[in-house]
Amino acid sequence: MKNTVVTFQQMKERGEKISMLTAYDYSTAKLEDSAGINAILVGDSLGNVVLGYPDTISVTMEDMIHHGAAVARGAENSLVVIDMPFMSYQASVYDAVMNAGRLMKEGRGGAVKLEGGEEVCPQIRAISQAGIPVMAHLGLTPQSINVFGGFKSQAKELEPARKLVRDALAVQEAGAFAVTLECVPARLASIVTKLLRIPTIGIGAGAGCDGQVLVYADMLSMFSDFRPKFVKAFANVGDAMKAGFRAYDEEVKAGSYPAEEHTYPMKDEVYAELENYVDSLAK
Ligand code: KIV
Repeated sequence: MKNTVVTFQQMKERGEKISMLTAYDYSTAKLEDSAGINAILVGDSLGNVVLGYPDTISVTMEDMIHHGAAVARGAENSLVVIDMPFMSYQASVYDAVMNAGRLMKEGRGGAVKLEGGEEVCPQIRAISQAGIPVMAHLGLTPQSINVFGGFKSQAKELEPARKLVRDALAVQEAGAFAVTLECVPARLASIVTKLLRIPTIGIGAGAGCDGQVLVYADMLSMFSDFRPKFVKAFANVGDAMKAGFRAYDEEVKAGSYPAEEHTYPMKDEVYAELENYVDSLAK
């Protein structure tokens, strides 16, 4: 059955944990969907993982629509949440609503996600009122990397922790259906999770959250540029891929691939005629 924002709310109320992973393409989305993952995030982490940027700043609306639509085609049951990229919502409420609308109409998402707390509540309210479910994102918000001065855990001290609590209540009040908590102390995430009616989805925020999200290329050990402390390697797909690529390289160079069984046949009489034809061309 298709997961929706209502499913998220019901899962929180029943105390059932919500699973979420990123995906950026059709085939990965299909695999995650068939594994029973509740929600797929088309994260702007595609900037790092797929496009090779050092951060998410350069990711465009066109990137998100292109990859969002591919994921949506592969996600039969998972809720597809598409990230609003840097500068698609910060400058004005109008931009935010129009761009969220594009992610739904052209990207075929079931919800959008944006970063920030009280300062983006007007955007969250307007997008929600336009009939588009919004997931908020607090803590380490990668689009503000230049303010944080690097990928660092957040809200460890009392004042920033208090601010995060206020932000979480504010985004809930503005109409967010869920909130991502990234790289914050597990104790703070547990407090926020108990305080909110809406589900919290943690990434580097401990087990007390209502759900968890990870970048799929991190948890499969496919992305090696950096590995945050909170990532667990659930499989070593990176090494398996490298081994496969090496084996292919060796066989192509040795001439052992493709073998007979990988080729399409031609009847002897057709082949003989074709040889005659080629000979005649050479004369
Ligand atoms: O872009 C992304 O993948 C994200 C997760 C890190 C939550 O926002």
